[in-house]
Amino acid sequence: MENFQKIIENNRAWAASMKAADPEYFAKRAARQEPLFLYIGCADSRVPANVVTGTEPGDLFVHRNIANLVMPGDLNAMSVLQFAVEVLDVKHVIVTGHYGCGGVKAAMTGTSFGLVDHWLQPIRNVIRWNKPELDAIPDEKTRSERIVELNVLEQIYHLSETPVIQHAWAKGRRPLLHGLVYDIHEGLLREMATGIDSQESADALAARRLAGVPTGPPPLVGRLDSPGQSFASGG
Ligand code: CO
Repeated sequence: MENFQKIIENNRAWAASMKAADPEYFAKRAARQEPLFLYIGCADSRVPANVVTGTEPGDLFVHRNIANLVMPGDLNAMSVLQFAVEVLDVKHVIVTGHYGCGGVKAAMTGTSFGLVDHWLQPIRNVIRWNKPELDAIPDEKTRSERIVELNVLEQIYHLSETPVIQHAWAKGRRPLLHGLVYDIHEGLLREMATGIDSQESADALAARRLAGVPTGPPPLVGRLDSPGQSFASGG
């Protein structure tokens, strides 16, 4: 209970100091929010969005989950994205991964951690798609850091595929997508990809993954334009 009370005390002191520096600080922010950025990051306690970016209340619209994933079936993330882009009109969407990510480490092991196994499946796909490159990295820590980087690029690609981003880009080249990795050892944000403003540039990020996919025509099964394979002909 003592530690919890400390949080309340800290809050009182912080609010008082902000008000002392600017009597209108809270009044201005209470009126409306006009953030320029949507920040999507890991839930990890060591990567607080406003602290590591040196931003203030009102600057970032924030969504965090384990291993900073952007999944099209995630109603929470998609709602945040839609509101940020279509209502708040953010100019930038930033995906921030971080070295030492527990979610990535868990995905690297064959161990089951329960429910979170389902959530981490997309990272296991990133590992599979980039197996040749990752297998060539002997050091486990370096390998996990590379997976963190590849995972960020993958999530940028996922973002580019969402109807929200597709519709926004059809109207203009905003928002810009950015991928960052936070180095927990140095406290620094490293730029993985910046200024992504089109499907072409997002596709280029996934080139590494696509390079590992067998080339050639897709399988015929289920293709409606193939004789004998359409639903109409009962194929
Ligand atoms: Co993490």
